[in-house]
Amino acid sequence: GAPVEIDLSKVEPGQLIRVEWRGKPVWVVRRTPEVLSKLKELDGQLRDPNSEEPQQPSYATNPTRAIKDEFFIAVGICTHLGCSPTYLPDTFGEQVQGVPSGFFCPCHGSKFDMAGRVFQSVPAPLNLVVPPHQYVNDTTVIVG
Ligand code: FES
Repeated sequence: GAPVEIDLSKVEPGQLIRVEWRGKPVWVVRRTPEVLSKLKELDGQLRDPNSEEPQQPSYATNPTRAIKDEFFIAVGICTHLGCSPTYLPDTFGEQVQGVPSGFFCPCHGSKFDMAGRVFQSVPAPLNLVVPPHQYVNDTTVIVG
């Protein structure tokens, strides 16, 4: 599959956009400073907070799992059995499906935070996969 170029300049804060790469959905979420500031608080509730499982590129192992903190880029497929998780944008403290904000898989209830990190006690074994990608300038990223 060919690499896919994404223009980030039109992604609003809090918005999730979808592109297709190698037949898979890839998400780009523009995270607000509020969302980013809450990530660390969740570490104790997560299965692999530092993304130590080996299937991830090295830039997926930092605290935001991103090259640029503001933009979270992930394959939008649940790591349990491949359903499509639902995006729960910043809910300003109110929990939806037990998630402060992040992604909820309707198939068997797996939950992921705004860095795609899986919560404990859900069926999904791994964090959402970060695809290989690189920035060519401040607002253009190439996936693949
Ligand atoms: Fe997502 Fe099972 S496929 S929880």
